Amino acid sequence: MQFEDEVAAPHGARTYLTTLAPARDEAGAITSVLSLARDVTEFVKAQQDQERLRRGLARADRLASLGVLAAGIAHEINNPLCFVLTTLEGLVEDLARLAAPVTPSAVPSQAADAPASLGELADRSREALASAVRIREVARGLGRFARVERDRACATDPRAPLETALTLASHETKYRATIVRDYDEVPRVAASDGELAQVFLNLIVNAAHAIDEGDVGHNAIHLRVRSIGAEVCIEVTDTGRGIAPADRPFIFDAFFTTKDPGKGTGLGLAISRQIIDGLGGQLQCEPAPGRGTRFIVRLPALPTAA
Ligand SMILES: Nc1ncnc2c1ncn2[C@@H]1O[C@H](COP(=O)(O)OP(=O)(O)OP(=O)(O)O)[C@@H](O)[C@H]1O
Ligand SMILES: [Mg+2]
Repeated sequence: MQFEDEVAAPHGARTYLTTLAPARDEAGAITSVLSLARDVTEFVKAQQDQERLRRGLARADRLASLGVLAAGIAHEINNPLCFVLTTLEGLVEDLARLAAPVTPSAVPSQAADAPASLGELADRSREALASAVRIREVARGLGRFARVERDRACATDPRAPLETALTLASHETKYRATIVRDYDEVPRVAASDGELAQVFLNLIVNAAHAIDEGDVGHNAIHLRVRSIGAEVCIEVTDTGRGIAPADRPFIFDAFFTTKDPGKGTGLGLAISRQIIDGLGGQLQCEPAPGRGTRFIVRLPALPTAA
């Protein structure tokens, strides 16, 4: 029998790993118990320090990736915001004109630039509303992503953090590739939203950066979510330039990057793999059929409620 115990001591608590082993007589009856206690305080503390360091690094990387994407994200908010403002200004003018009493002399000029109909005003309002909803989506995505202190594993549907990552990466993807979603109904996984969004954001941004701008019609980032046996599998496949065979053994190493200085730190995949390992899953990479690269995240599925 083996157990770990914390024992109060004059200079602070110590942790002991105790092993109990029975000594038996010829008949097999236990005559005494041998007890061996080993002081593992420093070992346990070193393990905890290492875990804290790992988490701290992962959080720093998450905030750093937000910094890199900030200009693009600001754009994703600013564009729909400009549209909302212009539409609202137009609506205010048109509604004021509609509300103004009609005088015979004013009729010709009013007819020239009067709004087509209330139906048209409603259409424009709906478009503005859609843009406002988009702004809310980006702001919510930012909130979910940046709240590192809420990193507690809970039953998470992986499609939600995938969508958060897509929202935050949209400025990187939209001039390069079409996003194709292929989501099955899947069981939940034990993970925090923020950690998974961090992994997916890195995979999606990597996929986007492997594709040159300008040919959205012929390039795709394909996102597939499905369950295989007792696992949930999330694939990010791109039609990009692929990974040179000589680089493949190194892509998960910290600080390995083929990007220009200032464009990438080379920490993304190293930290993503650590996060997925920590969740009891696997992160792997393979060349995609045809061209491009596929990254596969496998996570243990939580039992579905009966
Ligand atoms: N989808 C992909 N297609 C082609 N090459 C890729 C892909 N994903 C990763 N790589 C290669 O792996 C390297 C390491 O990726 P990683 O995400 O760890 O770092 P990075 O993207 O260079 O920098 P960052 O720390 O900003 O993520 C990249 O520089 C690139 O050469
Ligand atoms: Mg990266």
